[in-house]
Amino acid sequence: MDYFEIDGPTPLSGDVRVAGAKNAALPLMAAALLAGGESTITNVPDLRDTRFFLDLLRELGVVGEFSAATLRLDTTGTGGALEAPYDIVRKMRASIYVLGPLLAAHGEARVSKPGGCAWGPRPVDLHMAGMKALGADVDEEHGYIVARCSGGRLSGGRFRFEPVSVGATCNVLMAAVLARGESLLENCAREPEVTQLGEALVAAGARIEGLGTRTLTVQGVDALRPLTAAVIPDRIEAGTFLAAVAVAGGRIRLSGCRMDHLQPMLGVLRDLGCEIREDGELLVAERTGPLQAVKVETQPYPGFPTDMQAQIMAAAALAEGVSFITDTIYPDRFTHVAELERLGARIELKNGTATIIGTDALQGAPVMATDLRASAALVLAGIAAHGRTEVRRVYHIDRGYEQIEKRLAALGARIRRRND
Ligand code: UD1
Repeated sequence: MDYFEIDGPTPLSGDVRVAGAKNAALPLMAAALLAGGESTITNVPDLRDTRFFLDLLRELGVVGEFSAATLRLDTTGTGGALEAPYDIVRKMRASIYVLGPLLAAHGEARVSKPGGCAWGPRPVDLHMAGMKALGADVDEEHGYIVARCSGGRLSGGRFRFEPVSVGATCNVLMAAVLARGESLLENCAREPEVTQLGEALVAAGARIEGLGTRTLTVQGVDALRPLTAAVIPDRIEAGTFLAAVAVAGGRIRLSGCRMDHLQPMLGVLRDLGCEIREDGELLVAERTGPLQAVKVETQPYPGFPTDMQAQIMAAAALAEGVSFITDTIYPDRFTHVAELERLGARIELKNGTATIIGTDALQGAPVMATDLRASAALVLAGIAAHGRTEVRRVYHIDRGYEQIEKRLAALGARIRRRND
């Protein structure tokens, strides 16, 4: 199995380009199912998750070609198989994204229930309730969600997401664009990835109002044209590189990122002691002074993202003073805590808040990645730790970061992929 070997500490310096956003690419890929013909998505990151999703689309009859960050998805042969099997869904929870498009385009869908994830339950009740609100019959049979609509077409309806959910908003939105009549979706997620999906659907002929706000009004249309979209830059990947310079020190320049999407993280990174400024198309980030303690609470966008709290915790471990990190989205998303402690971090976990007592230095040790962002945090901590760190189970990190070790090595980190 692959693992990373890291020798630290090393400061970072140099340039890095941010890839397309995984979390924007996946719903766009699912949305291709809504239209007949060939959709084209560019700036698609080459990741385990995008490859898994392509496998799933192929199961559903899509002819897909992926090269040079461009995906061509021809849906002409779909309509026969309408099932997302357990074998694929268990590897990638985002498989649930095919529920809405299959139901809307073909009147029927069977999707394996995703089950829990590394840090606890991750329900899909809102996805199911949203489909019901659009007139579908939704049942659970032998571990599968089975959804059908009478007459073969969904009808417009009203649905309120509680809590705010990125995945359920995308799924129900995709279903509503082909439903008969008007849908009113309230308390929607307004993450940039949701807005990008909405914009791509509108460009393909969907009628959606309110994109970027919590309320979406959709007038269903009879058919969509194939999608054409360029995936937005990955704000979490950009944030991870910024957190890397916070943890390790040094100066890096990021290209290809969207400043507006990064705003929710910049305050925290600056509080940690990073200087961050725009230089034309580039974002320059530097940390030369000591790290300072921070207080962070995750919130839906435009709040601080849950997908960045682990990486910030790696920096907080080395800060002067006591930091507090609360995850309100996933109160149990703290599997990285015990592994960071193996590197010498001092963290107390109580009632969904991690209290991090800063220490002067971390020490390298073997650690185990438990999920995607937890593994990113361990890699960053390893770069700053004294001596050798081995990060095991890096298949988690390969789900969401393209060749992360090569890109960090190009910034001066002493990190290698090994296999045993
Ligand atoms: C997406 C992101 C993930 C990110 C998360 C929160 C993708 C592929 N993944 O995941 O990286 O960490 O948003 O920003 O884009 N909930 C329910 N019922 C549901 C659905 C969600 O109660 O049916 C709850 C969840 O338990 C959680 C909250 O809603 O507490 C937000 O989760 P959600 O936004 O749905 O996360 P995902 O879309 O799965």
